[in-house]
Amino acid sequence: MYHGVCYRTPTRDIRCWCKLVTKSLMHTVVEEKQSLLFGLNQKVIRRNLMAIPNAFYEDGYVVLSGIPSVDVAKEMLLHFVGSIDGERAPLLKSTLDRTYLAKQDAIPVCEDIVSTGFQAMHYDMGMPFSASQPQALYTISALYKPAGSEPNPLAKTRVASIAKLLNQVSLGKRDELASRLEAYASNHGDGWVQPKPHNTQRLAIFARVIDALRGETRLADKIDTMIGQCFDYDKNPDGVYGLEQEYAFFKQARLDLAAVEKQISLLPGQMLVFDNMTCVHGRVGRRQKRELMHFLFGVEQATASEIDAYKQWLIEQAV
Ligand SMILES: [Fe+2]
Repeated sequence: MYHGVCYRTPTRDIRCWCKLVTKSLMHTVVEEKQSLLFGLNQKVIRRNLMAIPNAFYEDGYVVLSGIPSVDVAKEMLLHFVGSIDGERAPLLKSTLDRTYLAKQDAIPVCEDIVSTGFQAMHYDMGMPFSASQPQALYTISALYKPAGSEPNPLAKTRVASIAKLLNQVSLGKRDELASRLEAYASNHGDGWVQPKPHNTQRLAIFARVIDALRGETRLADKIDTMIGQCFDYDKNPDGVYGLEQEYAFFKQARLDLAAVEKQISLLPGQMLVFDNMTCVHGRVGRRQKRELMHFLFGVEQATASEIDAYKQWLIEQAV
């Protein structure tokens, strides 16, 4: 999980919006630099060496325990992703044979992100909602709390099943949901203004997806807002005010986010692995700088049909 809204640049550096917000320019601080790893050929080999816990297929996430080091966590993840059964994870099925480790970083790093106690529900690196340009698809994400590190009971990672959330209510008919989503991504997709306007046609903050599905534009101007600042930049260590703001936004859409989200306090040696397509995640409570190791898997160029399949799946949950 990257706790800002970040996207790749043509140089594979990750563009961090917490810096954009403050400086209105792309700003990469050397010691905080994070990069995408697609070019390093760390492809996941399909070997089926690991028994994937049922919870991953049923809930979209699972917590693994007793992992002694970052190296073991990475090895375990490569086996995990290489063993996912595409029949039980249909949205992942077409990408499994060409999935790469796309990111491996200690997080959080940016001061603006370290200082917040709240992160809104989001997709890591955003989800593409238009196939009009080549798009990366980030499919599996993992957060590892290194063994031997200081416990942090204050910080909890929040995870929610999109299906369970959206199945609570109908947000519209299939056709209108599709056109609303497409229009929102085309007109208000995540992006930046400087040095010149750019729309990635992706959405990271899930409340903006809800905004789109409802045919509203309440969050349309938040194209470059970091995840912790979508509702209120809650700098309180517990992040509760930000959380309440987010719950209230979802409540207005008749969605009870609190009822479906799980708050997980990762212990040293534990790793949360989640499906970045069927789940959204966030945080409540402040984390120490570089407290977690974040791994992200995906495909660098998703096909138009893969992007469309995801969009259709999402709409199906909201009908
Ligand atoms: Fe994240």
